This record gives sequence, C-alpha cells and structure tokens, in this order.
Amino acid sequence: MANVFRRKPLHLIVSEAKEEGDEHLKRSLGPISLTALGVGAVIGAGIFVMAGLGAHEAGPALTLSFVMCGVACTFAGLCYAEFAAMIPLAGSAYTYSYATLGELFAWIIGWDLTLEYAMGASTVSSGWSNNFVEFLKIFGLKIPLWLAYDHWTGIDQGQKQAAREFLSQAHPELAVGSTGYLDALKGLMVNPPPAIVERGHQLLSAPHLFGVEIGFNLPAFIIALIITAILVIGIQESAKFNATIVIVKVTVVLFIIALGSRYIHPGNWGHDWSSFAPFGLAGISSAAAYIFFAFIGFDAVSTTAQEARNPQRDLPIGIICSLIICTLLYVGVAAVLTGMVPWQLVNVEAPLTYAFLDHNIGWAGDIITCGALAGLTSVMLVMLIGQTRVLYAMASDGLLPKKFFAAIHPKFHTPWKNTILVGLVAASIGSVTPINKIGEMVNIGTLLAFVMVCASIIVLRIKSPNQPRPFRTPGIYLGGKLPIVPVLGILANGYLMYHLGLGNWIRLIVWLVIGLFVYFLYSLKHSRVQALPSSTEGM
Ligand code: ALA
Repeated sequence: MANVFRRKPLHLIVSEAKEEGDEHLKRSLGPISLTALGVGAVIGAGIFVMAGLGAHEAGPALTLSFVMCGVACTFAGLCYAEFAAMIPLAGSAYTYSYATLGELFAWIIGWDLTLEYAMGASTVSSGWSNNFVEFLKIFGLKIPLWLAYDHWTGIDQGQKQAAREFLSQAHPELAVGSTGYLDALKGLMVNPPPAIVERGHQLLSAPHLFGVEIGFNLPAFIIALIITAILVIGIQESAKFNATIVIVKVTVVLFIIALGSRYIHPGNWGHDWSSFAPFGLAGISSAAAYIFFAFIGFDAVSTTAQEARNPQRDLPIGIICSLIICTLLYVGVAAVLTGMVPWQLVNVEAPLTYAFLDHNIGWAGDIITCGALAGLTSVMLVMLIGQTRVLYAMASDGLLPKKFFAAIHPKFHTPWKNTILVGLVAASIGSVTPINKIGEMVNIGTLLAFVMVCASIIVLRIKSPNQPRPFRTPGIYLGGKLPIVPVLGILANGYLMYHLGLGNWIRLIVWLVIGLFVYFLYSLKHSRVQALPSSTEGM
C-alpha cells in the first residue's frame, strides 16, 4: 500500500550523495566563499530593475520595504540554516522535506521550487534585457520595440514614447522631468486619447500574427539560451567565475551608494510620514511583496553543502551573512535612489542607471548598466543550476522520468536533457511575459517554500527532538512547543504572500493542483522510496 508520507531514509540520502559527490566534488568552500556565493545569487534584477516599480508603490519608504523583506527572510534563513546543518546535502528544501516530512511534502516543495528557479531565471532574463537595451544605447544602437519587449510591455513602451512626443509638441513649456510634466505623462498613460494609442502602435510597428501584434523579448530569449548552453557544456572554473562577478557586482552597488549619496536631496525623502510613505503601510507592504524578489537566492548556499569544508558551521554563517550584507546594501541603494530622484520620477526599466543619467552623470549610468549585465548573468546561472539540480534529484528518486531528467551527457557529465528543457522553458516565458507578472509568481512560489520550511522546523523539533542539530534556530523553547522564530517566519512570509493579491494566489493554486495530478498519476507509482521495504522508514 503506497504511503504518500513515506520518508526517505537519511542513510540512503547520505550514501547517494557520497556516490555522486565525494568523487567529483572537492570540499573547498569556507565561510567567506559561501557568503560570496549567497551574495552572488541574491543581488540581481530585484535591485537593478524591480526596485523602480517598488518606489512607485511605497514612495521613499521603499527603504522600509527592504527592511521588511530582510526581516522575513532572516526568520526563514535561520530555519534553512538548521536544516542545512542537519542534512548537509545538495537538493535544498526538497531533500530536507523528503527526509523529514515525507514524500508528498517533498513533491510539493520540489514542484513549487520550479517557480523560484526556472521562472526566477525568466524574470532575471527579462531584467537583463532591460539593461541590454540601455547598454546598446551607449553605442547609439536601438532594437525595434517589438523585439525588445513582450507584447504588453511593448505596447506600453510605444504609448509612453507617443505621449512624450505629444507633450514636447503640445506643451513645450513643461520641462522634461518636472512634476507638471510627470503628471501630464501619467494622465496620458492612464487615459490615452485615441491619437496617442494609434501613434504608440505606429512606433511599436510590430508585425501581426493572427491579428495580434507580436512582442518578443529577443535579448531575454538569447541570453537564457546562452546560459543554458554554458551549463550543458559545464563550467570548470565556476567558483572563480562567481567570485569575479560577485566582486564586480558588490563594487558597483557600493559605487552607487557612494557616488549617489552626493546627489541626494533630502527633500525627496519627504518631510513627514505622509510624504515619506504616501501610500502608508499598505504601499510599503505591497512594494515589499514585489521587491522580495531581490532576496531570493540566499537558499542557494544550502545547495553547495557537499562542497563546503565544514558545512555544519559554515552553511548557517553563509546564509545569515549573505542575508545581512544584502539587506544593508539594499537599504543603502533604496535610500540613495529615492533621495536622488523624486519617487514619482523613478524609472521602472533601469532605475539606478536613470537616477544617474537624470543628474547628467552618464558615465556612471554606463558603469551601472555594465555591472548590472554581469551581475544578472551570474544570478541566471545560479537559478538555472538550482532548477536542474532539483529536477535531477526528483528524477533520481523516481518522481519524474529518470531517463530524461537524470540523463547525464557522456562527454560533458551534465544533466543535459533536463538543462536544455529548463533553458527553453525559461527563455520562452521570459521573452513573452512582462517582468512584473513573472516576478510576482516567483515571489509567491518562493514565499510558500519559506513558509513550509519554517513549518517543517517546528514539526521536526516535536517529532524528532533528539536528532543532532549542529545549528539550532534560536527562539524555539519547550522542545519545539514555543517556536517563536519559525512562527514569526510563517507570519512574516505569509503576510507578504497575502500582499501579492488574489490573481497570484489563484495561479499558485492552479500550479500546485497540476503538480498533485502529476504526483498521483506518475510519481507515486514510480517512486523508489515507495518500493523500499517498510522497515527502512526515514529518521
Ligand atoms: N534575488 C535575485 C535577483 O534579484 C533573484 O535577481
């Protein structure tokens, strides 16, 4: 009789990991490399792109939105750290839950993680493309709008250009960037006269397919495929490559804070609470739910458990330190951004680049664009690797077709079929979907995984109180009966989920229901753990 709560025996996980890992993977990562890895996976489209829209939702209080996310992630990060130290093996939340909560929960987390990793890579590819468009402008080059954006963003961009044209002709007295100009532009975008709509379509000049204007984000598509090709061939020097990119990225962020702080007008932060937080707590919270994307990736540290020198001590250090460093950098950047530019004027495609361009410091904008391009590339790499590893682990357990998802290339020794599939899906979604829509799906999926990890910690403290825990999440008393930190983690991350709105909840539920169909129709019947004798139940 199948038992959907069957746990994978820990000794099996360990011996499998040994077979695969120890021969190929060197235990070379210390606390600094692990922290660098976390920072490398975290700093990306969230700060370089999505912070722009966040500023429009929260106003100057965007800084508080970043603090809110940092706190929610710290609660989850502490729980991740307990798991990572207890089961220091690759596979992240999927592996932890298989050993502790059983197969069905592991499946749900594994299925849900595709939202974090594959769709996360799509979101970053779209953000990369925004920066690539700016990069081409440095050389005076332009891509047609319909090949630079998805259908909806393309129409929006065409209309924005048409509205700007109209304003410069009809109201030359309005200085570009002034509040009057901005209000008029907003009005034309919200309620466009037919002439502007028509001119917008002309500027888009997109070919039609079945009567619909095509919008295809070609740069996003191509970069996702290039990264996929790199992953199929395998990177020998990935740690060195990552370290270089992390240095570039952090330097660019520090550069933004250092140079930008010289151009801050404190008046832009507002004079009282209502001008600092024009949309109140609701605005701060919905911006937090949106820019939460900026924090995704710290959990990637836990996937390198088999390459860590002293995983029990260093994984928690890597997770927590990368979170603290990123939160501090983000709060600094948000303060500089909203101090340099009135929040209503913050650009939403490449906000940091434009903050400097608006102050006529073009060279700084160019440096930021180049830094963002490099930084976003490494995030995409980590996300796609994360996805292929989770699928590989699920297929090795029999939960997905092994022949396809766990097939290893004879020459490159990479899970090539699964990588190509993931790359194609990520590239396709990133090229036809607006960045904010995919980003929100990624957030709700990741937040759910965080909530489940926090809940798992409580369950496990009660079910297996004596299991050795080299790192213990603080704030849990009475043998798990008073779990302050995990409960705060569930509440804080659940609160952010709530602020992502009904549409995202429905999409998440549909995705999970599809997952359950796959589980009951395929995975349960092919699971290797189900076939084990019942005496080998997990820990
Ligand atoms: N946190 C990563 C980013 O912002 C996913 O791109």
